[in-house]
Amino acid sequence: MTTFVITGTRVGIGLEHVRQASQNPNNTVFALVRSLTSGDLTALKEIQSSAGPERVHIIECDTSSETSIASLPGRLTTQSSSSSPLRIDVLINNAAILHNDDQNALNLTGDAFLSHMTTNVLGPARTTQALLPLLAPDAKIVNVTSGLGSLKLLTEGRIPAAVAPYSISKAALNMLTVHQAKQLPEGIVAVAIDPGHVKTEMGGPNAVLEIPDSVRGIQSVVAGLRREDSGRFMDYTGTDVPW
Ligand SMILES: NC(=O)c1ccc[n+]([C@@H]2O[C@H](COP(=O)([O-])OP(=O)(O)OC[C@H]3O[C@@H](n4cnc5c(N)ncnc54)[C@H](OP(=O)(O)O)[C@@H]3O)[C@@H](O)[C@H]2O)c1
Repeated sequence: MTTFVITGTRVGIGLEHVRQASQNPNNTVFALVRSLTSGDLTALKEIQSSAGPERVHIIECDTSSETSIASLPGRLTTQSSSSSPLRIDVLINNAAILHNDDQNALNLTGDAFLSHMTTNVLGPARTTQALLPLLAPDAKIVNVTSGLGSLKLLTEGRIPAAVAPYSISKAALNMLTVHQAKQLPEGIVAVAIDPGHVKTEMGGPNAVLEIPDSVRGIQSVVAGLRREDSGRFMDYTGTDVPW
C-alpha cells in the first residue's frame, strides 16, 4: 500500500495525480486543497466518490500559510482511516502560483517576488518540515518545479527571460531540493521534477502536453526512484534537466 500526500489538487496536474494514484486500489491519497469552502471542488469530489472516502481524503492546506501547514499533520492523522499509524510514502509538493507574468528582472516588484517565494519555495520547505515525522523511512519527496527555473536553459536562450518572479522561485525550489537531499534522513529521496509544458490553467491552451500524459510520466518516474536519485532535477520522463 502506498500513501500519497499531494498539495494543490483542486485543478490541473495535482488533480490528475489524485485521479491516477487513486486508480490503484492499494493506494491511499490525501488530496490537499487551498480551501474547503472557496473554489469548485466538484472534480476532486467525483474522484473521491469513485475511489471511496476511505482512500481519497480531501484536506485543507494553504501552502502559503505557515499556520495552515503547521496544523496539517493533525488534520492528516485525524482523517486517516487506517488503524496503523500514518506513514507517508510519497509527498508531492505540487501547489504553486504563476502571477505577474508581465514582470521581468527590470520591473520585478517586492510583492510579486515575495508571494512567489512564499508559495513556491517556502510552501514545499515548510510542508516537508511539518510532515517529516510522518514520512516513511524510504519516502519520496517530489518538488514540482519548472524548466523556467533552469539557469543554464535561460543562459543559453532556450527559455525566455520572462515571468521573473516565478522563474526565480523555481530556481530557488531546485536549490531547496538539493539542500533537502543533503539533509533528510538517509533513505528519504527528494527530487525536483519538471512536468513539461502542460495544458492547465497555468500552462495555457498552447501547451504541448496533455495533463494525463505528464502525470503518468511523473508517477512512473516516482515509482522507479532510487536512493541515488536524491537531489536530481529531471523532467516527467526521468531525463535530467540542466541546472
Ligand atoms: N502547466 C505547466 O505547463 C507547468 C510547467 C512547469 C511547471 N508546472 C508546475 O506544475 C505544478 C502544477 O501546476 P498546474 O499547471 O497544475 O497549475 P494550475 O492549473 O494553476 O494549478 C495549481 C494548483 O495549485 C493550487 N495552489 C496554488 N497556490 C496554493 C496555495 N497557496 N495553497 C494550496 N494550493 C495552492 C491551486 O489551487 P487553487 O486553484 O485553489 O488556487 C491549483 O489547484 C506547479 O508547481 C507548477 O509550477 C506547471
